[in-house]
Amino acid sequence: MYKRRIEFSTMQKNRYSHIIPCTIRNRTGYSQTSNRVQWLIVPCLLLLFQFGVAADINGNDSGTEKYRLVWAKDPTTEATVAWNQKSGDPGVVHYGTKDFGRKHHLYPKSQKTHRTFRYTESINNCFASLSDLQPDTRYFFCIKDKQGVSRRLTFVTAPDKPIEFTFIAGGDSRNFREPRIHANQICTKLQPLFIAFTGDMINRDTEEEWTEWLEDWQQTIDSEGNIIPIVPHRGNHESRPESIYNYFDTPEDAYYHWAIGDDMFRYFTLNSQIPADGKQGKWLRSELKKYRKNTTHLVAGYHKPMRPHVSKKSEGDNPLLWADTFYQCGLDLAIESDSHVMKRTLPLKPDRNGTEGFSRSLNDKNATVYIGEGCWGAPLRAADDSKPWTIDAASFNGFDWILVTPDRIEVKTVMIQNPIHIKKIDPAKIFENPTLKLWEPKGGSVLIVPGDRQD
Ligand SMILES: [Fe+2]
Repeated sequence: MYKRRIEFSTMQKNRYSHIIPCTIRNRTGYSQTSNRVQWLIVPCLLLLFQFGVAADINGNDSGTEKYRLVWAKDPTTEATVAWNQKSGDPGVVHYGTKDFGRKHHLYPKSQKTHRTFRYTESINNCFASLSDLQPDTRYFFCIKDKQGVSRRLTFVTAPDKPIEFTFIAGGDSRNFREPRIHANQICTKLQPLFIAFTGDMINRDTEEEWTEWLEDWQQTIDSEGNIIPIVPHRGNHESRPESIYNYFDTPEDAYYHWAIGDDMFRYFTLNSQIPADGKQGKWLRSELKKYRKNTTHLVAGYHKPMRPHVSKKSEGDNPLLWADTFYQCGLDLAIESDSHVMKRTLPLKPDRNGTEGFSRSLNDKNATVYIGEGCWGAPLRAADDSKPWTIDAASFNGFDWILVTPDRIEVKTVMIQNPIHIKKIDPAKIFENPTLKLWEPKGGSVLIVPGDRQD
């Protein structure tokens, strides 16, 4: 049996430094009297300092709100800060690797807004792209405008070396705000490196619904200002083709890819709302071919499943056009959404004589495991369309919690519940949280997808 070696990597230190307890040093050298005073004063000062800093980092007297951090380019060196400028001119992001709280003038670097998109009087999306960042490094930032300074936020860039990390994948948050907020709050407890959000953020693609969604997304930011990068995908409810681009500043067609840990992991965000063949299909084929030989884990995320596990859903004939490319290039894991159920499949290969165009293909380096199918607050549906190659499917609000290591991927599926009793992750055990409720499907709670490279 595989025995995991947990190393407290630099990334983990960076990512979890805010929850590692501090020790107070140098208590020697005081007289007895001053010692007594010290025991009174030091805790008081510490409390004051902590409250002061906490209050300070979360204060906001600027015209900015509804923050998100987007990974649509190289996440080891780039990140886009996005926000709503509710009044006044767009602010400027001040950032650096040292925490200066909201003292914007002390940060060594600044980045102006490179693009804005105003939908209405109350929605004015602003984007500032940070580049030349150091991999595997914690950054702090705040946004300064003419009115004041935003809260202080912090994030960690992705490592460029093969170090294990976790991410969350899920989608379909439209309709019900309570489970959506609970899911967002659970993310703060797990502190993944990023969240791959596989579409259908909203039900109707209106400013009112986006306003609510962005408001709820703030619940993925904890009280220490940790903002988890989002990797946005387009769903069918993003009915305006440009919505993802205009709310997150992704490429206009909302398909892109990037890598973490050099050759360890490459993630493809695909757009199932536009033709899967044509320009996008050609791009996918040529890019996957480029990386198939050297990449251990090739993963893709998109909204519409090829073969939904809900009978009333029509078959995904458009994304099905990717199946051959996935197989030829040895894509390891495909993350789907849209049906509002959760499912896992065996490793599959396209097969005209198989069930619905697929058959199981165990111990096949080219085969693909399919997971999903998205429910982060959307109306649940009956999981009534399992296939002979389905491991299991069920109907509940949940998301996939994924560990990526240099030799394999592990998937756990989190059942969304009120997070009040869920504890924050132990930095030494980034993929263990006994206070979480996990799905126990056939085959066990942990799905293992071995890593491989194509010869
Ligand atoms: Fe959908």
